Amino acid sequence: MPPIAHSKGRKNSFKCQSFSYELLLRANICFFEPQAIFRRGELFGVMKRPYTFMLVAVSLDGKISPRRKPGQANPVGPSLIAPEIMDLHNAQRASVDGIMVGLKSIQLDDSRLTLRSEQGRNPKRIVLDGLAEMAPTARILNPEAETIVAVTAEAPVERVAKIRERGARIVVAGRRGRFVDLTELMAKLYQECGIKRLMVEGGGTVHRSMISAGLYDEIQLIVCPFVIGGSQSVTPVQRAAFWPGGTVPTFRLDHVDVLGDYLYVTYKPGG
Ligand SMILES: NC(=O)c1ccc[n+]([C@@H]2O[C@H](COP(=O)([O-])OP(=O)(O)OC[C@H]3O[C@@H](n4cnc5c(N)ncnc54)[C@H](OP(=O)(O)O)[C@@H]3O)[C@@H](O)[C@H]2O)c1
Repeated sequence: MPPIAHSKGRKNSFKCQSFSYELLLRANICFFEPQAIFRRGELFGVMKRPYTFMLVAVSLDGKISPRRKPGQANPVGPSLIAPEIMDLHNAQRASVDGIMVGLKSIQLDDSRLTLRSEQGRNPKRIVLDGLAEMAPTARILNPEAETIVAVTAEAPVERVAKIRERGARIVVAGRRGRFVDLTELMAKLYQECGIKRLMVEGGGTVHRSMISAGLYDEIQLIVCPFVIGGSQSVTPVQRAAFWPGGTVPTFRLDHVDVLGDYLYVTYKPGG
């Protein structure tokens, strides 16, 4: 069914009319749709985890960042992205209990993951850092907001202690290796850390793991009017392809906003 367009000055909104089970979902009623039951599993005592969405700013050529070395400035930021889009990003940060990123994003960008305006409270910040390799000087460990560092049981105790000394809360999820067990982490964030709504900002390796584990309730893309180029650039989903080794995850279009030269697109699982 074609989308219905609403026009309001420079901002156009397209809402998909995917019949009424969306209305049922919004009313918290779920019949016969397995993914809806999964998402609302907490109603059935099956699984408690935060409502989780991915938010990514992507260039016209499908990149989220050029390949960079630590310390090299990230061009995909306020110098390139329109102020109203930065405001939208800030509003999304203000709407969640937690923001999650991978270690590489912290090592490259040294982000604080705080609100850009003074309004509202900063969400909790969560970093996936299986072996506790984050520098204790990382800005995300500053006292502006609570920081949770997710490690595996193999993280060396002395490195964990240094991060904890900076005031971070350590959550252990997964017994072995560099990669945190995300399903276990989601349950702990919900039950032990009070995170009911979570935004995942990246990067591509984290999105790959989250999609693979079926942990996204929404994928939000901000399609930006610039081209990054480069065969080594970072894409929204990195590492191994889903094909041919597994099932290609599919999504259905939920919402499109046109904001000047940008598209703000939301997809939900189950295409
Ligand atoms: N445009 C945007 O919206 C946007 C937003 C955020 C980030 N970015 C960009 O994304 C780039 C970084 O992306 P990236 O793919 O290189 O790295 P990343 O996703 O930021 O971090 C991945 C790292 O996190 C650690 N990790 C621990 N448990 C994990 C798990 N279960 N799944 C996945 N990772 C886990 C691993 O570190 P180890 O391997 O070291 O153990 C892994 O290599 C940067 O250039 C950043 O600027 C763009």
